[in-house]
Amino acid sequence: MTRAVTLLAPAKINLALAVTGKRADGYHELRSVFATIDLADRVRVAPDRRLEVRIAPDVGAPRGDDLASRAVRAMAAATGHDATAFVHIRKRVPVAAGLGGGSSDAGAVIRALATIWRRDDVDLVAVAARVGSDVPFFVSGARVALVSGRGERVDQLPDPTGMHVVIVRSRARLSTADVFAELRSDDRGAAASVDVLRDAFARRSVTPQLLRDNARNDLLAPAVRLCPEIAEARSHAAQRGVPLSLSGSGPTLFTVADDRRDALRIARTLRRMGLTAHAHTMAG
Ligand code: C5P
Repeated sequence: MTRAVTLLAPAKINLALAVTGKRADGYHELRSVFATIDLADRVRVAPDRRLEVRIAPDVGAPRGDDLASRAVRAMAAATGHDATAFVHIRKRVPVAAGLGGGSSDAGAVIRALATIWRRDDVDLVAVAARVGSDVPFFVSGARVALVSGRGERVDQLPDPTGMHVVIVRSRARLSTADVFAELRSDDRGAAASVDVLRDAFARRSVTPQLLRDNARNDLLAPAVRLCPEIAEARSHAAQRGVPLSLSGSGPTLFTVADDRRDALRIARTLRRMGLTAHAHTMAG
């Protein structure tokens, strides 16, 4: 029997995100190009007689109702297995930041349990959708994908190589539910950009400039209404010629650099302005 599985659970950014409608169940219809970055939690899953999830450092997740625990229970319900496992998560991805950290951990738990319980017959994307809207992308293993529906439809796109981004973290935390609740109908407009990016990835003709030109996110306006420091950071960076875009429901911001040197230079410039900025590889 497989004893333990350790996986890296990468963060994601939303290169463009369009909200295209509201559903009867209260969720929103989305179209978004997701890409992983080389910032990741480490998730170790081992068989156990009970369910225990340890997250270090402690991020204040509700005990027993964190996404990793919910992932174990969802896999158990789908397979008939007891909802037992020991999960240890070494956190590096900031939480409630728009980087999908908790969802990526949940995706890693589902994949690990499929291996440990030898259940390669289970539709992992369907299990993931029951845990959270961002989890299907992570469970799919795609590095870049067009994600649509509530998040349950994942169409993998070819990886670009050598794309570099700068991630700007904030100390603020934003709840995804709060940002969606703040959305107004006139906040929509990113759908064309999502399609431009999807086509460019599919044709393998993505350039940094194309990514910058189309890095639009319909959740930016509601996120700014809840967290005005997002607008402040964007306007300071814009004065130095750096366009910052929102990832997910925020508050994390990012920009696409021309190459690694450019990413390091931009990160230095933003740090001098007092922002917490680091260079990363995309789809890493
Ligand atoms: O699916 P998840 O639990 O991650 O979503 C958190 C919240 O974000 C939902 O309760 C909902 O308010 C909002 N949401 C939405 N439409 C989506 C995804 C999330 O309205 N497609």
